[in-house]
Amino acid sequence: MKGLFITFEGIDGSGKSTQATLLKNRLSQMHYPVVFTKEPGGTALGGKIRKILLNEDMNPVSEFLLFASDRREHIEKVIRPSLLNGKIVISDRFTDSSLVYQGFGRGVSLNFIRQVHQYILKGLKPDLTFIIDVPPEVGIERIHKKDRIEREGIDFLRRIRKGYIEISKSDERFVIVNGTGTPEKLNDFIWKVTLRRLRNGQER
Ligand code: TYD
Repeated sequence: MKGLFITFEGIDGSGKSTQATLLKNRLSQMHYPVVFTKEPGGTALGGKIRKILLNEDMNPVSEFLLFASDRREHIEKVIRPSLLNGKIVISDRFTDSSLVYQGFGRGVSLNFIRQVHQYILKGLKPDLTFIIDVPPEVGIERIHKKDRIEREGIDFLRRIRKGYIEISKSDERFVIVNGTGTPEKLNDFIWKVTLRRLRNGQER
């Protein structure tokens, strides 16, 4: 695969979408070919799945499988073709969100989630994953119009944050970013890490 696949993760209200956007803008300004996308809802069908996910109550396993359906569409229609075209793909959330929200947050078997991911990913995985880390109290303060998942409350966000810290130990692709600094400071740090990765990646 020729491109570079970067994902942004973090609890609700962490500021990850802002950071994903700032990185995309900076890469575009430097004339890097960049594709910006998100989960849930990175495709037309995914947009419909997103509406169901954010509004309907359901069993946690069903919830995971819907996220997985959205993800498979997203991989096949957007992510893989863009990477094959040599693009830098930035996704606001990806597989790690399911591991922590549905796994650590709602108790769906981590093993089951990993197996489904293995099946739908077919060898694809992010090259670099930024986890924007903020205390749950800070995250909750920043969320204004809450969707179904965001209404879960502070204990849920605590489990999610713990989950991110836990999984970050499993792979070198993870970079934990202290999300309590100013957006500009965070962006500068993320920019440096990305540039280093782009330069190293040229040997691949
Ligand atoms: P997101 O689009 O990041 O939130 P918003 O655009 O409203 O800021 O994500 C929507 C919600 O979906 C968020 O609470 C996290 C949750 N989510 C999961 O629970 N599992 C997943 O696999 C993904 C991708 C998101």
